[in-house]
Amino acid sequence: MEIKIADRITKMVPSGIRKVNEKALAMERNGEKVYHFEIGRPDFDTPDYIKKACIDSLNNGDVFYTSNFGYQELREEIAKYLTDKKHIPTTYEEVLVTVGLAEAVYDVLSVILEEGDEILVPDPVWMNYINIPRMLGAVDVKYSLLEQREYQPDFGELSAKITDKTKAIVLVSPHNPTGSMLSRESLEGIAELAKKNNLLVLSDEIYERLVYHEEGHISIASLPDMKERSITLNGFSKAYSMTGWRIGYVSAKKELILAINKIHQVNTTSAASFVQKAAIAALREEKTEVEDMRREYRRRRDYAVKAINGIPGLQCAEPAGAFYIFINIKALGISSAKFAEYLLENEKIALVPGEVFGENGEGYLRMSFANSLDNIAEGIQRLAHGVEAIKKEESGYGDKSR
Ligand SMILES: Cc1ncc(COP(=O)(O)O)c(C=O)c1O
Repeated sequence: MEIKIADRITKMVPSGIRKVNEKALAMERNGEKVYHFEIGRPDFDTPDYIKKACIDSLNNGDVFYTSNFGYQELREEIAKYLTDKKHIPTTYEEVLVTVGLAEAVYDVLSVILEEGDEILVPDPVWMNYINIPRMLGAVDVKYSLLEQREYQPDFGELSAKITDKTKAIVLVSPHNPTGSMLSRESLEGIAELAKKNNLLVLSDEIYERLVYHEEGHISIASLPDMKERSITLNGFSKAYSMTGWRIGYVSAKKELILAINKIHQVNTTSAASFVQKAAIAALREEKTEVEDMRREYRRRRDYAVKAINGIPGLQCAEPAGAFYIFINIKALGISSAKFAEYLLENEKIALVPGEVFGENGEGYLRMSFANSLDNIAEGIQRLAHGVEAIKKEESGYGDKSR
Protein backbone atom coordinates (compact mmCIF):
# COMPACT_ATOMS: atom_id res chain seq x y z
CA MET A 1 0.00 0.00 0.00
CA GLU A 2 1.32 3.41 -0.89
CA ILE A 3 1.03 5.81 2.00
CA LYS A 4 0.40 9.43 1.10
CA ILE A 5 2.03 11.73 3.63
CA ALA A 6 -0.02 14.88 4.20
CA ASP A 7 1.25 17.92 2.26
CA ARG A 8 1.61 20.04 5.36
CA ILE A 9 4.12 17.51 6.71
CA THR A 10 6.19 17.52 3.54
CA LYS A 11 6.47 21.32 3.87
CA MET A 12 8.35 20.89 7.13
CA VAL A 13 12.13 21.27 7.01
CA PRO A 14 14.13 18.36 8.46
CA SER A 15 16.36 19.15 11.43
CA GLY A 16 19.83 20.03 10.15
CA ILE A 17 21.17 19.70 13.70
CA ARG A 18 20.08 16.08 13.96
CA LYS A 19 21.62 15.41 10.55
CA VAL A 20 25.04 16.56 11.74
CA ASN A 21 24.60 14.70 15.01
CA GLU A 22 23.60 11.46 13.31
CA LYS A 23 26.62 11.59 11.04
CA ALA A 24 28.88 12.28 14.04
CA LEU A 25 27.37 9.33 15.90
CA ALA A 26 27.86 7.05 12.88
CA MET A 27 31.54 8.07 12.80
CA GLU A 28 31.80 7.22 16.49
CA ARG A 29 30.27 3.82 15.89
CA ASN A 30 33.13 3.30 13.43
CA GLY A 31 35.58 3.95 16.23
CA GLU A 32 36.42 7.59 15.42
CA LYS A 33 36.59 10.20 18.19
CA VAL A 34 34.36 13.16 17.45
CA TYR A 35 34.17 16.44 19.41
CA HIS A 36 30.57 17.54 19.79
CA PHE A 37 29.67 21.19 19.50
CA GLU A 38 26.42 20.71 17.62
CA ILE A 39 23.85 19.83 20.22
CA GLY A 40 21.98 22.51 22.15
CA ARG A 41 21.88 20.89 25.52
CA PRO A 42 23.73 21.49 28.76
CA ASP A 43 26.54 19.05 29.51
CA PHE A 44 25.93 19.05 33.27
CA ASP A 45 24.02 16.43 35.21
CA THR A 46 20.67 17.57 36.65
CA PRO A 47 21.31 18.90 40.19
CA ASP A 48 20.91 16.22 42.88
CA TYR A 49 18.17 17.99 44.83
CA ILE A 50 15.94 17.85 41.74
CA LYS A 51 16.61 14.17 41.13
CA LYS A 52 15.90 13.44 44.78
CA ALA A 53 12.54 15.21 44.60
CA CYS A 54 11.63 13.06 41.60
CA ILE A 55 12.67 9.82 43.29
CA ASP A 56 10.79 10.76 46.48
CA SER A 57 7.74 11.56 44.40
CA LEU A 58 7.84 8.14 42.72
CA ASN A 59 8.36 6.41 46.06
CA ASN A 60 5.34 8.30 47.39
CA GLY A 61 3.16 6.83 44.66
CA ASP A 62 2.97 9.91 42.47
CA VAL A 63 2.25 7.84 39.41
CA PHE A 64 -1.11 9.07 38.12
CA TYR A 65 -2.42 11.65 35.67
CA THR A 66 -2.37 15.15 37.06
CA SER A 67 -4.70 18.00 36.20
CA ASN A 68 -4.28 18.80 32.50
CA PHE A 69 -3.00 22.22 33.50
CA GLY A 70 -0.38 20.70 35.79
CA TYR A 71 -0.27 20.44 39.57
CA GLN A 72 -1.64 23.61 41.07
CA GLU A 73 1.37 23.72 43.40
CA LEU A 74 3.70 23.87 40.40
CA ARG A 75 1.57 26.45 38.61
CA GLU A 76 1.66 28.58 41.75
CA GLU A 77 5.42 28.21 42.02
CA ILE A 78 5.87 29.24 38.37
CA ALA A 79 3.48 32.19 38.83
CA LYS A 80 5.55 33.28 41.84
CA TYR A 81 8.74 33.03 39.80
CA LEU A 82 7.27 35.11 36.97
CA THR A 83 5.90 37.68 39.41
CA ASP A 84 8.97 38.02 41.63
CA LYS A 85 11.83 37.44 39.23
CA LYS A 86 10.47 38.41 35.82
CA HIS A 87 8.23 41.26 37.03
CA ILE A 88 5.16 39.85 35.29
CA PRO A 89 2.36 39.78 37.89
CA THR A 90 0.95 36.29 37.30
CA THR A 91 -1.63 34.02 38.94
CA TYR A 92 -1.54 30.23 38.71
CA GLU A 93 -4.55 30.31 36.37
CA GLU A 94 -2.35 32.08 33.84
CA VAL A 95 0.11 29.17 33.72
CA LEU A 96 -0.09 25.84 31.89
CA VAL A 97 2.55 23.15 32.40
CA THR A 98 3.63 21.43 29.17
CA VAL A 99 5.88 18.60 28.02
CA GLY A 100 8.82 20.90 27.32
CA LEU A 101 8.67 24.29 25.67
CA ALA A 102 8.56 22.43 22.36
CA GLU A 103 5.04 21.22 23.11
CA ALA A 104 4.01 24.70 24.19
CA VAL A 105 5.00 26.14 20.79
CA TYR A 106 2.75 23.70 19.00
CA ASP A 107 -0.17 24.22 21.39
CA VAL A 108 0.04 28.00 21.33
CA LEU A 109 0.39 28.33 17.57
CA SER A 110 -2.51 25.93 17.04
CA VAL A 111 -4.66 28.24 19.09
CA ILE A 112 -3.70 31.55 17.54
CA LEU A 113 -3.10 30.77 13.86
CA GLU A 114 -5.77 30.15 11.24
CA GLU A 115 -4.75 28.76 7.86
CA GLY A 116 -3.19 31.54 5.79
CA ASP A 117 -2.38 33.71 8.82
CA GLU A 118 1.08 35.19 9.03
CA ILE A 119 3.51 35.12 11.89
CA LEU A 120 6.72 37.15 12.06
CA VAL A 121 9.65 34.90 12.82
CA PRO A 122 13.32 35.85 13.18
CA ASP A 123 15.84 34.70 10.58
CA PRO A 124 17.91 32.88 11.73
CA VAL A 125 15.91 30.96 14.35
CA TRP A 126 15.35 27.61 16.08
CA MET A 127 13.52 25.60 13.43
CA ASN A 128 10.33 24.84 15.37
CA TYR A 129 9.19 28.41 14.71
CA ILE A 130 9.32 27.72 11.01
CA ASN A 131 8.01 24.18 10.97
CA ILE A 132 5.01 24.51 13.24
CA PRO A 133 3.39 27.48 11.45
CA ARG A 134 3.90 25.60 8.17
CA MET A 135 2.36 22.47 9.59
CA LEU A 136 -0.67 24.52 10.58
CA GLY A 137 -1.03 26.01 7.11
CA ALA A 138 0.13 29.43 8.28
CA VAL A 139 2.93 31.51 6.77
CA ASP A 140 6.25 32.15 8.50
CA VAL A 141 7.28 35.65 7.46
CA LYS A 142 10.93 36.25 8.26
CA TYR A 143 12.45 39.34 9.83
CA SER A 144 16.22 39.63 9.85
CA LEU A 145 18.53 39.48 12.81
CA LEU A 146 21.90 40.42 11.36
CA GLU A 147 25.35 40.54 12.86
CA GLN A 148 25.96 44.04 11.47
CA ARG A 149 22.94 45.24 13.48
CA GLU A 150 24.13 43.34 16.54
CA TYR A 151 21.25 40.96 15.92
CA GLN A 152 18.65 43.62 16.76
CA PRO A 153 15.56 43.90 14.52
CA ASP A 154 15.27 46.55 11.85
CA PHE A 155 12.01 48.33 12.60
CA GLY A 156 11.64 49.58 9.04
CA GLU A 157 11.72 45.98 7.82
CA LEU A 158 9.42 44.75 10.57
CA SER A 159 6.77 47.43 9.93
CA ALA A 160 6.90 46.79 6.19
CA LYS A 161 6.20 43.10 6.75
CA ILE A 162 3.10 43.57 8.85
CA THR A 163 -0.13 42.93 6.91
CA ASP A 164 -3.72 42.47 7.96
CA LYS A 165 -2.98 38.75 8.18
CA THR A 166 -0.17 39.15 10.72
CA LYS A 167 -1.23 37.64 14.02
CA ALA A 168 1.90 37.53 16.09
CA ILE A 169 5.62 38.10 16.34
CA VAL A 170 8.04 35.55 17.73
CA LEU A 171 10.93 36.67 19.94
CA VAL A 172 13.69 34.36 21.09
CA SER A 173 15.96 36.09 23.61
CA PRO A 174 18.57 34.92 24.45
CA HIS A 175 18.63 33.68 20.93
CA ASN A 176 19.33 30.32 19.35
CA PRO A 177 21.52 30.21 17.20
CA THR A 178 23.33 33.56 17.68
CA GLY A 179 23.49 33.85 21.49
CA SER A 180 22.35 37.47 21.12
CA MET A 181 19.76 39.20 23.26
CA LEU A 182 17.18 41.81 22.41
CA SER A 183 18.09 45.14 24.00
CA ARG A 184 15.60 47.07 26.12
CA GLU A 185 15.29 49.52 23.25
CA SER A 186 14.40 46.72 20.80
CA LEU A 187 11.88 45.24 23.23
CA GLU A 188 10.26 48.63 23.70
CA GLY A 189 10.11 49.11 19.93
CA ILE A 190 8.53 45.68 19.45
CA ALA A 191 6.04 46.44 22.23
CA GLU A 192 4.99 49.66 20.48
CA LEU A 193 4.67 47.88 17.15
CA ALA A 194 2.61 45.09 18.69
CA LYS A 195 0.24 47.54 20.35
CA LYS A 196 -0.13 49.67 17.23
CA ASN A 197 -0.86 46.66 15.00
CA ASN A 198 -2.75 44.59 17.54
CA LEU A 199 -0.27 41.69 17.46
CA LEU A 200 0.36 38.97 19.97
CA VAL A 201 3.96 38.50 21.09
CA LEU A 202 5.33 35.01 21.60
CA SER A 203 8.39 35.29 23.80
CA ASP A 204 10.65 32.23 24.03
CA GLU A 205 12.67 32.70 27.21
CA ILE A 206 14.15 29.20 27.56
CA TYR A 207 17.70 30.63 27.92
CA GLU A 208 16.83 33.55 30.23
CA ARG A 209 18.81 32.16 33.18
CA LEU A 210 21.93 31.88 31.05
CA VAL A 211 22.78 35.54 30.56
CA TYR A 212 26.27 37.01 30.80
CA HIS A 213 25.88 40.74 30.68
CA GLU A 214 24.99 43.26 33.35
CA GLU A 215 21.53 44.40 32.29
CA GLY A 216 20.16 40.88 32.65
CA HIS A 217 17.13 39.52 30.88
CA ILE A 218 13.94 41.50 30.36
CA SER A 219 10.64 39.76 29.68
CA ILE A 220 8.56 41.71 27.19
CA ALA A 221 5.43 40.89 29.21
CA SER A 222 6.84 43.04 32.04
CA LEU A 223 6.76 46.20 29.88
CA PRO A 224 3.77 48.57 30.30
CA ASP A 225 0.48 47.18 28.89
CA MET A 226 2.26 44.18 27.36
CA LYS A 227 1.10 41.37 29.61
CA GLU A 228 -2.29 41.07 27.93
CA ARG A 229 -0.78 40.49 24.48
CA SER A 230 2.26 38.45 25.53
CA ILE A 231 2.60 34.70 25.63
CA THR A 232 5.67 33.79 27.62
CA LEU A 233 7.24 30.39 26.98
CA ASN A 234 9.83 28.91 29.28
CA GLY A 235 10.93 25.64 30.83
CA PHE A 236 13.45 23.77 32.90
CA SER A 237 15.58 22.20 30.15
CA LYS A 238 18.42 24.69 29.85
CA ALA A 239 18.57 26.41 33.25
CA TYR A 240 18.42 23.25 35.35
CA SER A 241 19.93 20.89 32.78
CA MET A 242 16.72 18.91 32.47
CA THR A 243 16.38 18.46 28.71
CA GLY A 244 15.43 14.79 29.02
CA TRP A 245 12.78 15.39 31.67
CA ARG A 246 10.54 17.18 29.18
CA ILE A 247 8.92 19.91 31.18
CA GLY A 248 8.11 23.50 30.29
CA TYR A 249 5.32 26.01 30.60
CA VAL A 250 3.35 28.74 28.95
CA SER A 251 2.06 31.84 30.65
CA ALA A 252 -0.64 34.03 29.13
CA LYS A 253 -3.97 35.55 30.03
CA LYS A 254 -6.46 33.06 31.42
CA GLU A 255 -8.74 32.81 28.39
CA LEU A 256 -5.77 31.92 26.20
CA ILE A 257 -4.56 29.33 28.71
CA LEU A 258 -8.01 27.71 28.65
CA ALA A 259 -7.86 27.46 24.85
CA ILE A 260 -4.25 26.25 24.82
CA ASN A 261 -5.20 23.58 27.34
CA LYS A 262 -7.68 22.13 24.83
CA ILE A 263 -4.80 21.25 22.51
CA HIS A 264 -2.47 20.27 25.33
CA GLN A 265 -4.99 17.85 26.77
CA VAL A 266 -5.54 15.99 23.52
CA ASN A 267 -1.81 15.96 22.83
CA THR A 268 -0.32 14.83 26.09
CA THR A 269 -2.97 14.90 28.88
CA SER A 270 -0.35 16.31 31.25
CA ALA A 271 3.35 16.46 31.92
CA ALA A 272 4.61 13.47 33.97
CA SER A 273 3.49 13.69 37.60
CA PHE A 274 6.88 12.97 39.21
CA VAL A 275 8.64 15.33 36.81
CA GLN A 276 6.26 18.08 37.89
CA LYS A 277 7.20 17.39 41.51
CA ALA A 278 10.85 17.68 40.55
CA ALA A 279 10.11 21.01 38.84
CA ILE A 280 8.50 22.33 42.03
CA ALA A 281 11.69 21.45 43.89
CA ALA A 282 13.83 22.98 41.12
CA LEU A 283 12.21 26.37 41.67
CA ARG A 284 11.68 26.19 45.42
CA GLU A 285 14.92 24.69 46.65
CA GLU A 286 17.43 26.19 44.25
CA LYS A 287 20.57 27.50 45.90
CA THR A 288 23.62 28.18 43.73
CA GLU A 289 23.20 25.33 41.23
CA VAL A 290 22.01 27.36 38.23
CA GLU A 291 24.40 30.19 39.00
CA ASP A 292 27.32 27.74 39.19
CA MET A 293 26.49 26.39 35.74
CA ARG A 294 26.04 29.89 34.34
CA ARG A 295 29.47 30.93 35.60
CA GLU A 296 31.07 27.91 34.03
CA TYR A 297 29.38 28.70 30.71
CA ARG A 298 30.66 32.26 30.93
CA ARG A 299 34.21 31.04 31.56
CA ARG A 300 33.98 28.84 28.47
CA ARG A 301 32.40 31.61 26.42
CA ASP A 302 35.16 34.05 27.32
CA TYR A 303 37.82 31.53 26.39
CA ALA A 304 36.15 30.42 23.15
CA VAL A 305 35.30 33.89 21.82
CA LYS A 306 38.89 35.08 22.30
CA ALA A 307 40.36 31.95 20.76
CA ILE A 308 38.04 31.99 17.74
CA ASN A 309 38.64 35.66 17.07
CA GLY A 310 42.35 34.86 17.09
CA ILE A 311 41.98 32.61 14.05
CA PRO A 312 42.62 34.56 10.83
CA GLY A 313 39.59 34.17 8.58
CA LEU A 314 37.08 33.69 11.41
CA GLN A 315 35.27 36.18 13.54
CA CYS A 316 32.45 36.04 16.09
CA ALA A 317 30.39 38.37 18.23
CA GLU A 318 30.42 37.79 21.97
CA PRO A 319 27.17 36.01 22.87
CA ALA A 320 25.18 37.76 25.61
CA GLY A 321 23.31 34.62 26.59
CA ALA A 322 22.54 30.94 25.91
CA PHE A 323 25.52 28.70 25.05
CA TYR A 324 26.06 29.33 21.36
CA ILE A 325 28.70 31.17 19.39
CA PHE A 326 27.77 32.10 15.84
CA ILE A 327 31.04 32.02 13.96
CA ASN A 328 31.29 34.16 10.84
CA ILE A 329 33.13 32.17 8.14
CA LYS A 330 32.30 34.45 5.20
CA ALA A 331 35.94 35.40 4.63
CA LEU A 332 36.72 31.78 3.76
CA GLY A 333 34.54 31.78 0.64
CA ILE A 334 32.94 28.42 1.37
CA SER A 335 29.35 27.61 2.21
CA SER A 336 28.56 26.82 5.83
CA ALA A 337 27.22 23.37 4.91
CA LYS A 338 30.40 22.45 3.05
CA PHE A 339 32.68 23.76 5.75
CA ALA A 340 30.73 21.96 8.48
CA GLU A 341 30.99 18.76 6.46
CA TYR A 342 34.70 19.31 5.92
CA LEU A 343 35.28 19.91 9.63
CA LEU A 344 33.37 16.82 10.65
CA GLU A 345 35.07 14.53 8.17
CA ASN A 346 38.60 15.88 8.47
CA GLU A 347 38.90 17.50 11.88
CA LYS A 348 36.30 15.36 13.67
CA ILE A 349 34.49 18.35 15.10
CA ALA A 350 30.72 18.65 14.80
CA LEU A 351 29.28 22.15 14.34
CA VAL A 352 25.97 23.19 12.81
CA PRO A 353 25.91 25.04 9.48
CA GLY A 354 24.09 28.33 10.04
CA GLU A 355 21.89 27.87 6.97
CA VAL A 356 19.78 25.29 8.83
CA PHE A 357 18.41 28.18 10.91
CA GLY A 358 17.37 30.22 7.87
CA GLU A 359 18.86 32.17 4.97
CA ASN A 360 20.60 34.72 7.19
CA GLY A 361 22.48 31.88 8.86
CA GLU A 362 24.44 31.17 5.68
CA GLY A 363 28.09 32.08 6.18
CA TYR A 364 28.05 31.06 9.85
CA LEU A 365 28.64 27.98 11.97
CA ARG A 366 26.94 27.50 15.31
CA MET A 367 29.21 26.20 18.01
CA SER A 368 27.73 25.16 21.33
CA PHE A 369 29.98 25.73 24.32
CA ALA A 370 28.03 23.27 26.44
CA ASN A 371 31.15 21.10 26.49
CA SER A 372 34.21 20.96 28.76
CA LEU A 373 36.87 23.65 28.50
CA ASP A 374 39.39 20.98 27.48
CA ASN A 375 37.17 19.81 24.64
CA ILE A 376 36.49 23.40 23.59
CA ALA A 377 40.23 24.13 23.50
CA GLU A 378 40.89 21.00 21.45
CA GLY A 379 37.92 21.74 19.18
CA ILE A 380 39.09 25.28 18.47
CA GLN A 381 42.59 24.05 17.62
CA ARG A 382 41.04 21.66 15.16
CA LEU A 383 38.87 24.45 13.80
CA ALA A 384 41.98 26.59 13.24
CA HIS A 385 43.64 23.67 11.47
CA GLY A 386 40.55 23.22 9.30
CA VAL A 387 40.56 26.92 8.38
CA GLU A 388 44.20 26.72 7.29
CA ALA A 389 43.51 23.60 5.28
CA ILE A 390 40.47 25.07 3.56
CA LYS A 391 42.43 28.16 2.59
CA LYS A 392 44.89 25.86 0.80
CA GLU A 393 42.27 23.52 -0.60
CA GLU A 394 42.18 23.74 -4.36
CA SER A 395 39.46 21.30 -5.24
CA GLY A 396 36.35 19.73 -3.83
CA TYR A 397 35.25 21.86 -0.92
CA GLY A 398 36.31 25.34 -2.00
CA ASP A 399 33.20 26.94 -3.44
CA LYS A 400 34.47 30.10 -5.06
CA SER A 401 31.01 31.21 -6.03
CA ARG A 402 30.39 32.45 -2.53
C1 LIG B 1 14.90 28.61 21.44
C2 LIG B 1 14.55 27.27 21.99
N1 LIG B 1 13.34 27.10 22.57
C3 LIG B 1 12.99 25.90 23.07
C4 LIG B 1 13.85 24.81 23.04
C5 LIG B 1 13.39 23.48 23.58
O1 LIG B 1 12.97 23.56 24.91
P1 LIG B 1 12.36 22.27 25.61
O2 LIG B 1 13.46 21.32 25.90
O3 LIG B 1 11.75 22.82 26.87
O4 LIG B 1 11.33 21.68 24.71
C6 LIG B 1 15.10 24.95 22.45
C7 LIG B 1 16.00 23.79 22.36
O5 LIG B 1 17.05 23.81 21.76
C8 LIG B 1 15.46 26.21 21.93
O6 LIG B 1 16.66 26.41 21.37
